[in-house]
Amino acid sequence: MSNYHIKHLEEYFQVYRKSVRNPEAFWEEIAEEHFLWRKKWDNVLSWDFSKPEVKWFENAKLNITENCIDRHLTTRGEKTAILFEPNDPKEEAQHITYNELHKRVCKMANVLKENGVKKGDRVCIYLPMIPELAVSLLACARIGAIHSVVFAGFSSNALSTRINDSDCKIVITSDGSFRGKKSIDLKGIVDVALDDCPGVKTVLVAKRTNAEIEMKAGRDKWLQPLLDDAYGDCVPEIMDAEDPLFILYTSGSTGTPKGMVHTTGGYMVYTAYTFKNIFQYKENDVYWCTADIGWITGHSYIVYGPLANGATTVMFEGVPSYPDYGRFWEVIEKHKVTQFYTAPTAIRALAKENLDFVENHDLSSLKVLGSVGEPINEEAWHWYNNNIGKNNSPIVDTWWQTETGGIMISPIPYVTPTTPTYATLPFIGIQPALMDENGEELKGNQVEGRLCIKYPWPSIARTIWGNHERYRDTYFSAYKDKYFTGDGALRDGVGYYRITGRVDDVIIVSGHNLGTAPIEDSINEHPAVAESAIVGFPHDVKGNALYGYVILKEFGETRDRDNLRKEINQQITEHIGPIAKLDKIQFVTGLPKTRSGKIMRRILRKIASDDTSNLGDISTLLNPEIVQEIMDNSL
Ligand code: WTA
Repeated sequence: MSNYHIKHLEEYFQVYRKSVRNPEAFWEEIAEEHFLWRKKWDNVLSWDFSKPEVKWFENAKLNITENCIDRHLTTRGEKTAILFEPNDPKEEAQHITYNELHKRVCKMANVLKENGVKKGDRVCIYLPMIPELAVSLLACARIGAIHSVVFAGFSSNALSTRINDSDCKIVITSDGSFRGKKSIDLKGIVDVALDDCPGVKTVLVAKRTNAEIEMKAGRDKWLQPLLDDAYGDCVPEIMDAEDPLFILYTSGSTGTPKGMVHTTGGYMVYTAYTFKNIFQYKENDVYWCTADIGWITGHSYIVYGPLANGATTVMFEGVPSYPDYGRFWEVIEKHKVTQFYTAPTAIRALAKENLDFVENHDLSSLKVLGSVGEPINEEAWHWYNNNIGKNNSPIVDTWWQTETGGIMISPIPYVTPTTPTYATLPFIGIQPALMDENGEELKGNQVEGRLCIKYPWPSIARTIWGNHERYRDTYFSAYKDKYFTGDGALRDGVGYYRITGRVDDVIIVSGHNLGTAPIEDSINEHPAVAESAIVGFPHDVKGNALYGYVILKEFGETRDRDNLRKEINQQITEHIGPIAKLDKIQFVTGLPKTRSGKIMRRILRKIASDDTSNLGDISTLLNPEIVQEIMDNSL
């Protein structure tokens, strides 16, 4: 028997050793015993990080939706697969059984086919957190189309960039979305985006808000009537283990967003296996991850990982503050949630509110709490542990990335003793390395460096869509034969890992990765702006907030500063989305630069964080005098 479910610490160490001593044999056993393959692989793994090329389960054939749906129908047909909790608590929750999910996915798959979608085609999905979103992902997977979900909080500009980058011919969206008290005109955003996307021929529109919207003749179709007419069964397309399953965009430190490509077989095995262990999932549990399916967390741990285990997964449409700050706790009580997985930014925001919001609810169903997306600070960890877990539900601080597909470093609850702010130990099969400035691996404990991974794991992204060179340069060129994560980490005396944060120009705001370059580009497009630089500074709810240093053109100098600040943020909202807005904007006459003209963000970061005691040597700057001016006027 394979070690599919790890139950105590010795077992973890034993299985971990087995998984790194012979990774191929280890993953072969897991894959063989717990999944449905139409044909087995010829070779478990071939890899070369210098190219880079990674192939898991070569020439194996499968369909991931057979694993996530069909194979459960005989034993779990009437079990709830997706439990949909709407934005408005007065609207009834929907319990979508595995049988029902099967039918809905097949119908959607048939609608896509009727609209000309074929294996390998890219489908853009721009939907709020309604059941159609999960159904759309699975419907694509059913017919071998590659889904590209764009988070429905992104602006039309960000949407069109992503649609064009992966050449999507079809978009699935809705008339609108609900977010707390607000309703948002999603279809209007799509319409603007599509002015720049000549390749899109079809838009399928789900009804959610019943808002009056424009339907463009010949292009836009209401989804529901098509679903009503579609046949409720659909033969799954047989896919190769290495066929792409989806593209998901993530911000880089420079340039356009990177379309990370995940393939089918390895992704399925790894997300399912991590889900089972890291949430200690048991048959009658009700698991809830509060992420949006627009992010990797939602892909792996709302949809694929849970469904591959036949789990009940909650999909929540709303926000933590509506109708009041007790909503999360109310939902946990209402559905008797057993595993709850959220982000530090949400915990920090809720910890600021009156504790009555928590104490009015019975949270005794909880067994495991999770955290993801950014480092969780000590205070938030304790608040979560004391008030939500009642010191009785282990917190799994899960470190991973869009690129890694699944959780990489995390405690296993009830197995690994936890320590606040530590992601603790590498998961089974994961071989981390900490590197020093000179590119040497730091051996032993009590070391701090840059976090790399030495050996492939099944769900590593295989490439960046349309730009393999960028994939190599970004992740495999900093350290020979290693995947570089972009994060810094330390390993303490007992070998526990603590993630210290990004070491590149990516800033994590409320758990969302933002690259500095696209924000600066957006600001620089303002007619009054000559140049700008963005840095992060600590924020007690968002983790980091953005601080912008802006140099104005001469005529801009006469403009009202507060109006300019509003315009700049408006522009960022239009180009990227409201998540990228700046908290502070300081107008400066220059930026500290090296002699080669590179902005010294390190100095700006320190000033923005009010930490100017040790700015380091600034005498080598091209313009050292600017530093004092910036400090004197700091906001
Ligand atoms: C950060 C989210 C500390 C990290 C799944 C990483 C974390 C980036 C943690 C990836 C954690 C994620 N502790 N930092 N538990 N989890 N991060 O691609 O900097 O949206 O590189 O994937 O988030 O963000 P992404």
